[in-house]
Amino acid sequence: MSDESGKGLTREQWGSRLGFILAAAGSAIGLGNVWRFPYLVGENGGAVFVLVYLFITVLIGLPVMLAEFAIGRAAQRSPVAAFRALNVSPFWGAIGWLGTLAGGFFVLSYYNVIGGWTIRYMLESLGGLMETAATGQSKEFFGHFIGQRQQVLMFQIVFSGATMLFVLSGIGKGIERACKVMMPALFLILVVLIIRSLTLPGAEAGIEFYLKPDLSKLTRSTFLSALGQSFFSLSLGLGIMLTYGSYLGREERIPSATVWTASLDTLIALLSGFAIFPAMFAMGFEPGQGVGLTFITLPAVFAKMPAGQYFSFLFFLFLFFAAVTSSMSLMEVATTFAIEKFNLKRVNAVCLMGIIIFLLGGYSAISLAGDPKVAGMDFLDALDYLCNNVMLPVGSFLVCVFVGWFWLDPALKELTNNGKLETRWWLHVWVLCVRVLAPIAILFIFLNGTGLLETLDTWLRQ
Ligand code: PFF
Repeated sequence: MSDESGKGLTREQWGSRLGFILAAAGSAIGLGNVWRFPYLVGENGGAVFVLVYLFITVLIGLPVMLAEFAIGRAAQRSPVAAFRALNVSPFWGAIGWLGTLAGGFFVLSYYNVIGGWTIRYMLESLGGLMETAATGQSKEFFGHFIGQRQQVLMFQIVFSGATMLFVLSGIGKGIERACKVMMPALFLILVVLIIRSLTLPGAEAGIEFYLKPDLSKLTRSTFLSALGQSFFSLSLGLGIMLTYGSYLGREERIPSATVWTASLDTLIALLSGFAIFPAMFAMGFEPGQGVGLTFITLPAVFAKMPAGQYFSFLFFLFLFFAAVTSSMSLMEVATTFAIEKFNLKRVNAVCLMGIIIFLLGGYSAISLAGDPKVAGMDFLDALDYLCNNVMLPVGSFLVCVFVGWFWLDPALKELTNNGKLETRWWLHVWVLCVRVLAPIAILFIFLNGTGLLETLDTWLRQ
């Protein structure tokens, strides 16, 4: 599904509207929803984070997604080439470069590490995981696992290998078909988990934590974390949705496809929280567990269910699939980049990029097992922070400024299918968001969350 022809005229298109929505949702729904969202909620005070997240997703995430789809379909190119094709200043090509570096290399490198955990947990579900979790030791199990460097690296290799295989053999039939079964199955198993979690004695405290906002927990970093999570979860700011939009037929309606994709993504994230928080409080775990939260809490819930080991196995299998459909979209960025830049064959590009990304990810995996640290954080956390709290917001900011101020008329034509779709109120709201609200909000949240605003303020006062 790459833009190797470069001409864009005979470009492959999604088989159907549903195919497009599923592929976009496949990229969006992944570890971000089931792993990253709950642990950020846990670290950032619960419901107040959920509220900020929803607000940001509607006001900033959705408009940016619409903008990316519009650019992609108009240009019919991959991110780096897209801005050239639109005949705009080469400066905007920076969005493509930034996305390629952040998504194709940085995010993917540690995404593979966490993806590897899902495989280990899938296998362990049928091994000793349930017995350990039943005795309240799932936290120790997790700590022990990430401390074993060789094991973590091995599972990282397996996950990376699976991603590479899918990208090599084309996304088309296998993965699209598998997703049509796996994604609804993941949804169903989440519902079963929620029922179990909600019916555990002591679950109320978790529901309260998840649903009752405590405004005193609001800090300036809450906004930045929610912003980064919204972009990460919706796969924005990296040119992925731009690329997916480039395969979209001219007659498809971008706005409704966007609302579907974003709604499905948000729904799965919210459901994950309902599966995790009631159980977490019922079992006396702390919400601020960080990266291990999902892997610590859910096995404990499974252990309390009849046939828990099978549910656990299926859950981590589906999570693995959700993760692979996302990692493939990231790997495709790195692969297309290598094909275009170094004129490589697809198979060579996949192998070369796979090795580079593995080495980078290996560093993240090792850092979780102890040293080395960067700015006091594990390397994985540091990379995650850099990508989600810096690079994605910067990429999305540039997309808004580009579309809002330099490419608005063509974007409006794209979104209304050349005026064929009725212009509705939401289009005016979108223009307002993309021109003014979103760029200002991103800039403010970024400067505030990173502490730069304070520095600037002190400096101006001197
Ligand atoms: N959206 C994916 C998730 O939530 O797991 C991760 C991801 C995929 C982020 C693709 C960014 C991206 F471009």
